Amino acid sequence: MLSMVPSILLALALASFVCADLGAYIPLLAPYAATVSPTLISLSIEQDNWIQWAGTTSPNTFFYNALDNLRQLGGERLWIRIGADSEDHTNYNPNIQYSEDVFPAYTNTTPYPEATNITVGYDYYGLIAHLPAGTRVWWGVNLGRYNLTAAYLESQALLTAFASPPVVAQGTTLEYIEIGNEADLYSNNGARNSSWNPIEYTREWIEFATNISDSFDLYGRTYPKLIGGAFANSAFSSSGFSPQAIIGAGILNSAPGSLIRTVSQHHYSGSFCQGSGGLLQNLMLKSTIRTNVFQFAPDIAVVRSYGLDYVFGETNSYACHGAPGVSNTAGAAIWTLDYSLYASQVGISRLHFHEGIGYKYNLIQPVALDRSIIDGSALATPIPAHVQPQYYSAIIATEAIGSSGNAQVLELQFDDPWTSGYAFYEWGVLRRALIINSQAYLNGTTTPRNTTHVDVNFIGHQLGGPTEMQIKRLNISYADATSGLTWGGQTYETNDARVSGILSVQTVPVSTGVDVHETEVVMLSFIA
Ligand SMILES: *[C@@H]1O[C@H](CO)[C@@H](O)[C@H](O)[C@H]1NC(C)=O
Ligand SMILES: *[C@@H]1O[C@H](CO)[C@@H](O)[C@H](O)[C@H]1NC(C)=O
Ligand SMILES: *[C@@H]1O[C@H](CO)[C@@H](O)[C@H](O)[C@H]1NC(C)=O
Ligand SMILES: *[C@@H]1O[C@H](CO)[C@@H](O)[C@H](O)[C@H]1NC(C)=O
Ligand SMILES: *[C@@H]1O[C@H](CO)[C@@H](O)[C@H](O)[C@H]1NC(C)=O
Ligand SMILES: *[C@@H]1O[C@H](CO)[C@@H](O)[C@H](O)[C@H]1NC(C)=O
Ligand SMILES: *[C@@H]1O[C@H](CO)[C@@H](O)[C@H](O)[C@H]1NC(C)=O
Repeated sequence: MLSMVPSILLALALASFVCADLGAYIPLLAPYAATVSPTLISLSIEQDNWIQWAGTTSPNTFFYNALDNLRQLGGERLWIRIGADSEDHTNYNPNIQYSEDVFPAYTNTTPYPEATNITVGYDYYGLIAHLPAGTRVWWGVNLGRYNLTAAYLESQALLTAFASPPVVAQGTTLEYIEIGNEADLYSNNGARNSSWNPIEYTREWIEFATNISDSFDLYGRTYPKLIGGAFANSAFSSSGFSPQAIIGAGILNSAPGSLIRTVSQHHYSGSFCQGSGGLLQNLMLKSTIRTNVFQFAPDIAVVRSYGLDYVFGETNSYACHGAPGVSNTAGAAIWTLDYSLYASQVGISRLHFHEGIGYKYNLIQPVALDRSIIDGSALATPIPAHVQPQYYSAIIATEAIGSSGNAQVLELQFDDPWTSGYAFYEWGVLRRALIINSQAYLNGTTTPRNTTHVDVNFIGHQLGGPTEMQIKRLNISYADATSGLTWGGQTYETNDARVSGILSVQTVPVSTGVDVHETEVVMLSFIA
């Protein structure tokens, strides 16, 4: 129905900038709209440095606070995935307390490389008790080395840790075990030979999963359950690695396959080790985001037809731990919001944004860094732990979805390549909307920063409907700025990750509409 409403694109030369005029047509009551959790934007952690994220002898309070902000806003137990590439380079040794890592030398393009060999010990997994109470955890074990004993010992240590009194007291649970990371790439990275295919993968996965499920009686427990897939790419059909291919190979018909509850897919928008303003604009582009995400629709349909959940278990802007001057910028925050909210419309229930210490695309840098994330150069003084621009996207999405426990989100249709929007409902009633302007306003631009005027029209206004709205803005100086953002005048760029500053919002009649600047997000909260 919405797409049939013609949008008006009216370019008006007004003073020194141009105003496009758009109409937002927002149903007052949720029509068919996707249900959404405030944990839509969640994290995935590279496990080589897990002990730095968590803290060893005491919790890492910066990381704790950054997560706790989200828990408080969303009112729901958080989700976190831990493992990733390092999970296939990890073994267990009962004589080690936390972990021992072997790192390759860093380079200009990879200032913070992943460890090539990780050995974890008896207190490693239990550090999960340092995260906010009630966190729902999904942890990976090693399939890459085809060492069943390693996967068995890791699973045993995981179950022991999650049954320990400090973790149980927190209400923190191990929801999923993931067996192998991006196994579709094993024949490219030397973990398997050229005969590797979905049928052989399914055979090995069943072998490992059977051992783990039988050894620890996963059939008789509420959790953990198992993750399926976790592939880097998809063939979108049975012709290569995809959910369809492994289902066709019988994974769900196996005994441990009956424990799969969620299929995980990984996705990056591309791989660029160098950045530019053009690359940033391309990342943010509404059309790129839609093409990128919608291609997974056939996989999602198949997965959901088996009653399974579908998530992006590992995602972020660009591989190479991010493109410098792109992945670490405010423009990436705009991308994160539109990408994640659009994903909710295509049947993706959650996105785990991948993080590692010093990666360019992090939402959070949880410890001080002594070399540049951009080029590895030594810093005169270390930068303390801090949040990066994308952290604001997690805050904004969580706030917009809200803590009702019964939220829906609906994409608004704008006939404009730079404007996207979403309406948020609680118990079926319209509460908020986000309008996103994805035109990259770059540092050094000499033309004025344009503004789009958006009129708000309610569908079903015979029911009455709100007459006033509160406007809250994500203030960004430039799309390529790496700091200095404010959300409603407040900053999260503080030494403890807690919000600071005085909340600044504007209340206007709904009939006034709202001006949205290039590279900006506004949240409208409707007041009945
Ligand atoms: C990884 O490190 C452990 C402990 O130092 C060592 O025993 C093992 O051989 C190493 N594995 C590989 C594959 O290098
Ligand atoms: C699982 O594998 C481990 C390590 O090889 C072995 O000790 C254990 O007995 C196996 N468990 C079952 C149920 O087969
Ligand atoms: C497999 O892992 C076990 C447990 O850590 C270790 O003792 C063994 O050496 C590993 N096997 C190989 C071939 O690396
Ligand atoms: C690849 O490895 C498998 C399992 O070890 C083996 O059966 C197969 O013969 C190998 N194929 C090639 C082409 O080397
Ligand atoms: C603002 O809009 C005008 C008209 O569409 C365009 O010519 C100009 O380049 C835009 N300014 C920027 C900074 O994009
Ligand atoms: C962001 O805030 C600054 C300081 O209040 C203000 O000067 C600027 O106009 C704001 N930018 C936008 C795009 O609203
Ligand atoms: C804009 O670019 C100039 C020159 O490179 C730089 O000094 C300034 O800090 C940049 N401003 C922001 C907000 O990033």
